[in-house]
Amino acid sequence: MNPIVELRQVTAYRGETKALEEVSLTVRAGEHLVILGPNGAGKSTLLKLITRELYPAVRPESRVRLFGQERHNVWSLRRRLGIVSHELQRQYRDSVTGLDVVLSGFFWSTGTWPHQAFTPAQHEHAYQLLARFGVGALASVPFGHMSAGEQRRCLLARALVHDPAVLILDEPTNGLDVAARFAFLGLVRELMAEGKTVLLVTHRLDEVVPEIERVVLLKEGRILADGPKAEMLTDRWLTRLYGVPITVVEANGYYQVVPAGEAQR
Ligand SMILES: Nc1ncnc2c1ncn2[C@@H]1O[C@H](COP(=O)(O)OP(=O)(O)OP(=O)(O)O)[C@@H](O)[C@H]1O
Ligand SMILES: [Mg+2]
Repeated sequence: MNPIVELRQVTAYRGETKALEEVSLTVRAGEHLVILGPNGAGKSTLLKLITRELYPAVRPESRVRLFGQERHNVWSLRRRLGIVSHELQRQYRDSVTGLDVVLSGFFWSTGTWPHQAFTPAQHEHAYQLLARFGVGALASVPFGHMSAGEQRRCLLARALVHDPAVLILDEPTNGLDVAARFAFLGLVRELMAEGKTVLLVTHRLDEVVPEIERVVLLKEGRILADGPKAEMLTDRWLTRLYGVPITVVEANGYYQVVPAGEAQR
């Protein structure tokens, strides 16, 4: 089967800033991965190349191939991708209801408009997704009246309206309390078990759920390292990645970081 993502020597600019430089990355179906890196490393930029919200600099050697194709109808491509991001959440007006958040996923928008006609089947599907993620009671509640955890569940429901093969999660649990984070990650794990491929960007190592076996370390727009979790989540690599002394701690199949040597102070 064709890889889901094939980036070859891709360079991308955000305004005047070179955000990615000669990045190559191949992701196959079912190969869940996490991208780690400092603020400004280019993680969100990389995800936006995949969702076609951004295009790379034109270079003869550079390629972006998604689901085996270089040219796409962007709308049909996006039906195969579900996105949850902190940034997406900020784009929603407080007055949009839970139901409309989910329905907006059908049009890749951040609200619904009077000219958009949704079928009874689409309404029913949206209600079912809200119920599935434990927010069925929030269908008519405005987004601004929900907790951050509830908002994120609505966004996960939105991401799934087209039953996409791939979930792209950019800091999806930012601002959630511990219980809400664990619950959200539990839902993501269920979706992985159903066959969705997950591409996660996070600043929290404890969100690298056991199913994620591949880790990509991105620094200053370049891939510093890319490999199996056990090889990447080490004191040496993470100290290099973040430029501060780090000790990695492992428990129950999860990882966490603490400052190296801090206890001796
Ligand atoms: N809209 C924009 N206009 C100009 N420069 C931008 C824009 N968005 C991002 N950049 C710059 O591009 C670079 C990469 O940004 P990107 O958002 O991809 O980083 P990131 O790894 O996702 O960071 P964070 O962890 O803070 O989300 C940074 O130098 C950033 O300042
Ligand atoms: Mg980002």
